[in-house]
Amino acid sequence: MTEKGKRDWSEKDLRKMIVDQRRFLWRDDMIDRISSSLNLKHGITAVDIGCGLGYLGWTFWRHFGEGGTYIGVDCSEKLLTDAREMSEEWSNGGNACFLKGEACYIPLQDAFSDFTMCQTLLMHLERPETALAEMIRITKPGGAVMCMEPDNLSSSLAVPFSSRPSITLKERMFWFKAWIIWAEGRKRLGKGDYGIASKVPKLMADAGLVRIDSRVNDIPGFIQPPYETEAQRYSLEKMREHLDERDEEEEKRWWKEYKECFIAGGGSLSTYYRIRKLAEEKREVNTEIILDQVRSGSYYAGPRPMGFFCFTGFVPKRTKEK
Ligand SMILES: C[S@@+](CC[C@H](N)C(=O)[O-])C[C@H]1O[C@@H](n2cnc3c(N)ncnc32)[C@H](O)[C@@H]1O
Repeated sequence: MTEKGKRDWSEKDLRKMIVDQRRFLWRDDMIDRISSSLNLKHGITAVDIGCGLGYLGWTFWRHFGEGGTYIGVDCSEKLLTDAREMSEEWSNGGNACFLKGEACYIPLQDAFSDFTMCQTLLMHLERPETALAEMIRITKPGGAVMCMEPDNLSSSLAVPFSSRPSITLKERMFWFKAWIIWAEGRKRLGKGDYGIASKVPKLMADAGLVRIDSRVNDIPGFIQPPYETEAQRYSLEKMREHLDERDEEEEKRWWKEYKECFIAGGGSLSTYYRIRKLAEEKREVNTEIILDQVRSGSYYAGPRPMGFFCFTGFVPKRTKEK
């Protein structure tokens, strides 16, 4: 069965997201700690569901790749083609391969892998519990399952300190309410749960995983002159690109999808038009101010909660494990 409301992640703006946002997503030492807690060993078989361009493959490769196998599964043939090509570099001639398939019907046999993972997949699915059950089905008894998922809904309500032009309290409350309605509509349309992270431990427990644990991404994400880290300089560059190089077609598409979700969440058409008007007015006024700050090196943004989690659990061994 195909998931409802599925987006094509090979489209320009979405593909760009899974390239740009991956560059400094997790710190290496956090990946090392996760790998050690999962007891990853070289030579194992790892499967990545909704692999996109293979980010989890190249990120965890140094912990299992020698003599090991990585299989990336995704429903987008276009992304898989690119992922295959990119893997030639990071897998260094090792065994990395890619397979077209659905998260809710993974084309692999039972107890196939030692380590099954996904990142920002469950948040886009109508039935995340079915995908999780499939991930568990293909994992060997005693094997590890890992889901890296954000709570974007909570993060979008954060109020970080920054040099951006401020907005009034009334406007802020208006945005907050709009996000919540939009996220509700997104869920109702089967496009996934933006606040999925807070539910993942329960989903894992209900699905029978044991020794469930979680870590929080510890990237602070602040941008502070003189921009000493590569990650800060990269974030500024991406922000400049985003403000400078508008793509009106993509914006139109984004608003169309926003409208569908907002209305499905119970919002009214007139409120949708007010949101759009406010957003466009703000963009008009603020873009130059922010770009000037970026050019002059005075832009700053305080740390904001990432709300991005790594959840792990183990498939019980055949002898009843508690
Ligand atoms: C946000 S991207 C994440 C990609 C990758 N895991 C990463 O972190 O860079 C979501 C990915 O899941 C894939 N996807 C979405 N729904 C799927 C489904 N039902 N079955 C298989 N793949 C799916 C998309 O094609 C896309 O590549």
